[in-house]
Amino acid sequence: MYSEKVMDHFEHPRNVGEITDASGSGTVGNAKCGDIMKMDIKVEDNIITDVKFKTFGCCAAVATSSMATEMIKGKTVDEALALTNKAVAEALDGLPPVKMHCSVLAEEAIHAALEDYHAKHPQG
Ligand code: FES
Repeated sequence: MYSEKVMDHFEHPRNVGEITDASGSGTVGNAKCGDIMKMDIKVEDNIITDVKFKTFGCCAAVATSSMATEMIKGKTVDEALALTNKAVAEALDGLPPVKMHCSVLAEEAIHAALEDYHAKHPQG
């Protein structure tokens, strides 16, 4: 049912944890299943230098958040904002159609963390 990449990121998720002095944090929930994801980002000179997540959710939610953190690390704030759940799913060699909604959580968590960052740093 899941690709090897999904299983790899589920079994060995990258960037799990929290950033105590995060530049921005976002917590989002999936209304369909009740799963929750928290994303912390560290931004320096408009670059995402660190990102950590915690997901209380299914295999697809964990794998997509892990892949999403890998994809935005080192990127600019605008590049991170442009990352879509579809691109994350593609990077994982696809998700079963019934699990696509899980990947939305990662995209929304990144957006929520970036919104928090913008609210705290209006100039930056
Ligand atoms: Fe809840 Fe996948 S079933 S995020």
